[in-house]
Amino acid sequence: MIKTLYNSKLIFFVLVLLLMLSNFTSATDSSESSFEYVDYDVEKDDPLDQEYLASGINYYVPPSYPAPLTGRIQLIHNWAKAISKARDIVSVLDIVEKVNLTTGIGYGSGVCQANLGTIPKLDIDSICFQHGAHGVASTDFATNFPSSLAAGSTFNKDLIYQLGRAVGRESKGKGVNVLMGPSLNLGYHAAAGQNSESFGSDPYLAGKLASAFVKASQYEGVLTCPKGFIGYEQQHFRHTDEWQGGKYDKLQSPLNVEITDKVMHETYLWPFAEVVKAGAGCVACSYNKVNGTFACENSYLINHLLKEELGFQGFVASDIGAMRSGVYSVLAGADVNIPGDIYGQYADGKSYWGPLLTRAIYNSTIPQYRLDDMVTRLLAAFMANNVKIPLDYDVDSLPNFSSWSLHTYDQKYPFQKSGSIKQVNYHVDVREPFTEKVALQTAREAIVLLKNKGSVLPISTEDGYSRILVAGLGSTTDPRGSDVEQAALANGAIYQSWGPNAVTSFNAISPAEAISKKARERGFMIDISTDEYDLEDVEKMADLANVSIVFALADAGDGDVQVDGNYGDRKNLTLWANNVELINSVADRCYNTIVVINSPGPVDLEGFIGHENVVSVLWSAPLGQYYGAAVADILFGDYQPSGNLPFTIAKKTSDYVDIIDKVPSNGKPVDDLNRLLDYRYFDEMGITPRYAFGHGLTYSTFKLSSLSINEKKAPTIDLTKPLPYLDPYYFPSNPLTDPSEALFPFDEFKPLPGHIYPYLYNTNIYSTKQFNYPKGYDPDIDCDFENDPTCDAPPISGGGLGGNPDLYETLYKVKASVENTGEMEGYFTAQLYIEFPRGRKAPKNHVRQLRGIDKVFIKKGKSKKIKFEITRKDLSYWDVEDQTWVIYPGKYKIYIGSSSRKFDLFGEIEIS
Ligand SMILES: *[C@@H]1O[C@H](CO)[C@@H](O)[C@H](O)[C@H]1NC(C)=O
Ligand SMILES: *[C@@H]1O[C@H](CO)[C@@H](O)[C@H](O)[C@H]1NC(C)=O
Ligand SMILES: *[C@@H]1O[C@H](CO)[C@@H](O)[C@H](O)[C@H]1NC(C)=O
Ligand SMILES: *[C@@H]1O[C@H](CO)[C@@H](O)[C@H](O)[C@H]1NC(C)=O
Ligand SMILES: *[C@@H]1O[C@H](CO)[C@@H](O)[C@H](O)[C@H]1NC(C)=O
Ligand SMILES: *[C@@H]1O[C@H](CO)[C@@H](O)[C@H](O)[C@H]1NC(C)=O
Repeated sequence: MIKTLYNSKLIFFVLVLLLMLSNFTSATDSSESSFEYVDYDVEKDDPLDQEYLASGINYYVPPSYPAPLTGRIQLIHNWAKAISKARDIVSVLDIVEKVNLTTGIGYGSGVCQANLGTIPKLDIDSICFQHGAHGVASTDFATNFPSSLAAGSTFNKDLIYQLGRAVGRESKGKGVNVLMGPSLNLGYHAAAGQNSESFGSDPYLAGKLASAFVKASQYEGVLTCPKGFIGYEQQHFRHTDEWQGGKYDKLQSPLNVEITDKVMHETYLWPFAEVVKAGAGCVACSYNKVNGTFACENSYLINHLLKEELGFQGFVASDIGAMRSGVYSVLAGADVNIPGDIYGQYADGKSYWGPLLTRAIYNSTIPQYRLDDMVTRLLAAFMANNVKIPLDYDVDSLPNFSSWSLHTYDQKYPFQKSGSIKQVNYHVDVREPFTEKVALQTAREAIVLLKNKGSVLPISTEDGYSRILVAGLGSTTDPRGSDVEQAALANGAIYQSWGPNAVTSFNAISPAEAISKKARERGFMIDISTDEYDLEDVEKMADLANVSIVFALADAGDGDVQVDGNYGDRKNLTLWANNVELINSVADRCYNTIVVINSPGPVDLEGFIGHENVVSVLWSAPLGQYYGAAVADILFGDYQPSGNLPFTIAKKTSDYVDIIDKVPSNGKPVDDLNRLLDYRYFDEMGITPRYAFGHGLTYSTFKLSSLSINEKKAPTIDLTKPLPYLDPYYFPSNPLTDPSEALFPFDEFKPLPGHIYPYLYNTNIYSTKQFNYPKGYDPDIDCDFENDPTCDAPPISGGGLGGNPDLYETLYKVKASVENTGEMEGYFTAQLYIEFPRGRKAPKNHVRQLRGIDKVFIKKGKSKKIKFEITRKDLSYWDVEDQTWVIYPGKYKIYIGSSSRKFDLFGEIEIS
């Protein structure tokens, strides 16, 4: 026995040695001989798709050049100081060093999901970008927090501030510098894959919660990068190669979304304005085209809307893999390209930026002031938010994990399969009592009680119940475990949707586990069945149970992974597996059937909602590792449900906008994003939904009274003209005479395989082909001072972070009183909606919209005040002709209640 053990140990040792040797050899091989530092050029057409324009459509990109310089708007003191400090650093950098800070070193070339080049001269280490908003992705010993959609359904700004702190703290603890998120897409398509990554289908709700999250995580020392800017509303066709073959073989271009200027301002841009106001350091441009031009090279989007109008002072990074060009993107206002590679050509060391950006500077196609501004924005974003720029000697704050391996020892670059075996993961445990507590509380508050007939809930032995059945695949963890790569699982509870932002979830508590624990402690008998197809046994159990809880689910995720034929976006809105039949069979036999749904967006409830024995229905978005614990707390009444639907649940799925999943004959799919969003559409069309946006029941009852509306400041019709711009700052000119100074310093070090560097390949800086600037760009002038008023002053709607400061002024304060008249303490979610004046001259389509949320905790029998502040922007519509926010004189109706269709208090604001 002992002998065998000894022998196998020896064999193991020899194997490890061989493995290490072989790796060592291959690493030496690849970096010294087989790897070539290849030359290449990327030719590309004008970003304005001429063919698309010629097809006679109304949507086009009004060219907007040059890119606005940072540091020109007045009265933004923390940014002004930061920008001036950033300029001091930029002024000592060479071109290649600056380019290093704009371009990722390539997928897998660093430990994070994206990493920038370094500045050894100043000890600046690689800036680390990592997903995401529900915990640190691709590592271990971090909390799997509830999804952003779950955050959306809490309707609780204060709690989401705490969530931002918790996620920020864990990210910082792992050495992350920029958290890629939160997502601000709006669930325009109910089935869209990434809907669980953002806050639901209302721009006001998304804006309020996202800005709380952004402020809090930045306060904890990590920058945020809200995404995807803009119109990133589905996974289908976000890239071409992801969707090729079979029925998609005609696909020629990624999805183009069309958005009118009005819809842009009033819907899609709204939450971005809020996060810019909140100080977000970064904004990530998305994969799709907008009006025919890629978001990351759309000058109107980035230069005009984001940097000019919203006064954004930080940097624009590509969502991971979204950069589609070099010079064009840079001129359109993109500042940072991550992970650096050309999409679909990962790990080959090539980039549209890096060496080609250096070349475009040396051949003067891109002016140096643009590069200076790109780097100034990056550094200033850190300084304005007191987020540390990583320094190579500050070892303890650097990332101490590898996004490419969960093993302790692995190759240095496991994704690139290069380098010797070394310790790549230190398994730093960043969880804390505080972060765990916030994860659990967010999960509890995110659970929405949709239906509650009779008094089965909360489940109690006092009602004479003794036997509980828990049924459905969704009640337990998938048999493959909870920690499969990218969380591409659906035969179990959905702790999170799938994709590269998945957080390892080894601590997940399943509903069956948490319910069993509580049931046993309280003297219940409990049966658990996860069989969805052979229903004979579960039917027997349902027959005997006093209460049956059926767990149902649907899932979605990122477009690069498919689960059961769902390519990111869901292929339908029905529940998965055999959920509906299971629910009905159980309900046929058990008077008290409770359905608990876990899904990344709206699902069709019609197959069972009318069943008289389905007494209660709960819904939640993916809730992270505490899903089971939170749902058990609610079911047994240890906490009251207090979540509210962040979207509408329709009776007919045809009332939702379908995913664009067909390729038109010209190969260029288009998505019209201009239909009214979610509840606005249902209200305007007079369609009664199954459950309205904002709906969510509690176990208690609440009574609202004493509405008061006080004018704080009389509204004026026009916005105050913003203060003129400060003079542009230009760095001292630096004539570039000798491109050989930007060549690879082979005498200092050797290039690593697949690594993107900033160095020129050769001194041949001019292309053989003439470079065509995008339409509307004039290389000879920085700004057209004679014709372009924005050279001296911001547009009327601009002039501050998030737009004209007037917009964020409170004009009215609204107060009311809420009494908890029920039997249980708990939260009440007060919602305020405003209906704009109607009339011949009034702007069209201004149905009732959410303009206030206040969630208050009230003890039984006690009252609390609810308070709302109505800003000028809350009462304004976007005037396309005058390009400004306008208040239309008339009567604004105020509704306060507990959903977008259930109101208790009514008021009016008359503006003349
Ligand atoms: C898209 O096209 C419309 C014209 O229909 C225009 O008003 C709007 O500003 C354009 N937006 C962008 C981002 O190009
Ligand atoms: C650019 O970054 C790389 C690491 O990605 C580093 O090796 C190189 O020295 C940096 N170059 C300069 C000029 O700072
Ligand atoms: C990694 O983390 C461990 C534990 O916090 C720490 O002791 C070590 O110094 C860190 N190492 C590096 C290379 O950052
Ligand atoms: C619960 O089930 C038990 C056993 O089947 C039964 O004796 C009891 O009466 C039931 N209680 C109620 C309230 O229906
Ligand atoms: C909808 O999709 C789910 C998940 O792929 C699948 O289980 C179900 O059978 C589909 N439903 C219909 C009606 O096609
Ligand atoms: C300058 O370099 C860029 C990057 O390679 C290239 O696209 C552009 O055509 C070059 N400009 C000229 C005038 O050669």
